[in-house]
Amino acid sequence: MTPSLVEAVPKAELHIHLEGSLEPDMLLALAARNKVDIPYKTADELRAAYDFANLQEFLELYWAGQSVLITERDFYDLTYAYLTRARQDNVVHAEAYILPQGHTPRGVPFAAVLDGALAAFAEAQRDFGITGGLILGLNRHESEDAALDVVRQARPWRDRILALGLEGPEKGNPPSKFVRVYDAARDLGWHLTAHAGEEGPPAYIVEALDLLKVERIDHGVRCDRDPLLVRRLAEERVPLTVCPLSNVMLKVFPNLAQHNLRRLLRAGLCVTVNSDDPPYFGGYVNANYAQSVKALGLTAAEQQRLVRNGFEAAFIDDELRERYLGDLDRLWPAGKA
Ligand code: HPA
Ligand code: ZN
Repeated sequence: MTPSLVEAVPKAELHIHLEGSLEPDMLLALAARNKVDIPYKTADELRAAYDFANLQEFLELYWAGQSVLITERDFYDLTYAYLTRARQDNVVHAEAYILPQGHTPRGVPFAAVLDGALAAFAEAQRDFGITGGLILGLNRHESEDAALDVVRQARPWRDRILALGLEGPEKGNPPSKFVRVYDAARDLGWHLTAHAGEEGPPAYIVEALDLLKVERIDHGVRCDRDPLLVRRLAEERVPLTVCPLSNVMLKVFPNLAQHNLRRLLRAGLCVTVNSDDPPYFGGYVNANYAQSVKALGLTAAEQQRLVRNGFEAAFIDDELRERYLGDLDRLWPAGKA
């Protein structure tokens, strides 16, 4: 099948967890290579387990899956595989979460995690020109001191880390818990983002903006319970890195037709489309676009706006942003379906 225009054009992906990009086949191969015991024998058995009632159920499987990642080479292979797969969807710029707290407690050196992932980004850029970088993820259910320790350990890589982010179980772990960590990250010159308003209330989005001073919000879809907040997000053009298939798989919305992506876009928000944890949620970025287009009846102009928003929201300099937007405009002139 020929891909639709939205699938064929260059795009940015801004919300993807490298650990959540671990395909069942690679998970089993790494378990064998590293002699890690896992309770699944086949890729089909693993896929059958990808059935979640909520975020917590997903996180438990996602954390268990991470246990096969041990060496620097594993992090390199994982990252290079994601970037190669993203390229097939015409992703030209990727900003990816990595979660040291998922690995260092198992004795994995901090350096293995970061050096492996960074080497893959550098190699993929040499091999096929993809740009992007790492978002250092923090487990929000762990303490602020633990988070400060992650930032301290990351200092030797400070110039090679793009941003700080918060992930993990949202309810009961508000952004306000991490004010000092975000202050430290800002001092290091990092960009700032955080998951908020996925399962948590609109107040967590407000906290992320006002207390952590984040530049964009990961998910953020629950903002629609607070009309004043929706207006603020539109007026300030705060990007939301929305992940439609993830939201359906984790029961944030009952189905894609009831997703609020189109309503938020029409309200003037800088909505972007992303994949979150693609093998777990049934699709990479193009599947997220294509299925949203179909379920929500997005117009050509709306599809084009979503792709443009991805570059608008990327943590890149204006020169690269203009280059990517110019490439997009040439391939997809305004008004063409
Ligand atoms: N939410 C919170 N934590 C996560 C997610 C998510 O969607 N994906 C991976 N870790
Ligand atoms: Zn996420």
